[in-house]
Amino acid sequence: MAEIVRLGTKAVAGAPRHVAIIMDGNGRWATMRGRPRLFGHHAGAKRVREIVEACPDLGVKYLTIFAFSTENWKRTQVEVAGLMSLFRRYITREARALFEEGVRVRFIGDRLRLDRKLQALMDELETLTGVNDRVHLTIALNYGGRDEVARATKRLAQDVAAGRLNPADVDEETLPRYLDTCVLPDPDLVIRTSGEARISNFLLWQSAYAEYEFIDTLWPDFTKEIFATLVARFGTRDRRYGGAKP
Ligand code: FPP
Repeated sequence: MAEIVRLGTKAVAGAPRHVAIIMDGNGRWATMRGRPRLFGHHAGAKRVREIVEACPDLGVKYLTIFAFSTENWKRTQVEVAGLMSLFRRYITREARALFEEGVRVRFIGDRLRLDRKLQALMDELETLTGVNDRVHLTIALNYGGRDEVARATKRLAQDVAAGRLNPADVDEETLPRYLDTCVLPDPDLVIRTSGEARISNFLLWQSAYAEYEFIDTLWPDFTKEIFATLVARFGTRDRRYGGAKP
């Protein structure tokens, strides 16, 4: 696994415009301290602000974080309810600061399965921060890449059936217009914490040419210095998009 070198949070040439993070390891972080898993999720939520605030100096305009997957419903009822409560509290408590820091917040995922109160808070936060443009924070909540592609395909098929879209015109520019991320650029860098080297159904279509960083650090220990190191290392990657060096 990658070794992390300390580095200040100064602007880095060749920074990734869009960074996506799989925030893994909250449960293990809590267990190591003899605490319940939700303690780790609360510690993880506190980290989010530090990483969002680091983005402008690092040249990161878009940050997308994986908060709850379509598979996370399989967890215990206590953990799921605790996470939903955490999301409600997070939105309520952080809304003002996010707005004042110029953060535009969006949510991706199937929000219809979430409780009405949480859905309303998500809508309000998107509206409140809709004028901002300093950092674009996207929170994936009840999100799964396959579910997103399936929902997008359903809408695309409806447009075909209604005569609004000609099947002959469907190409790889078409489907992204139906994805939850339709207004976002593709991620340049995907980070996963906690030592697991898998993408777990996150941004499957969008990450086709992303660079990946799998690091051992557990999410509640992920600092802006570590973030800055990974952003700097991204600047050294040779991205060829399937082409060859001349
Ligand atoms: C994965 O760690 C983490 C989650 C499923 C939840 C992510 C949520 C947060 C970081 C907190 C809230 C975020 C916001 C935006 C308020 P895990 O539980 O799978 O850890 P483990 O692999 O060690 O068990």
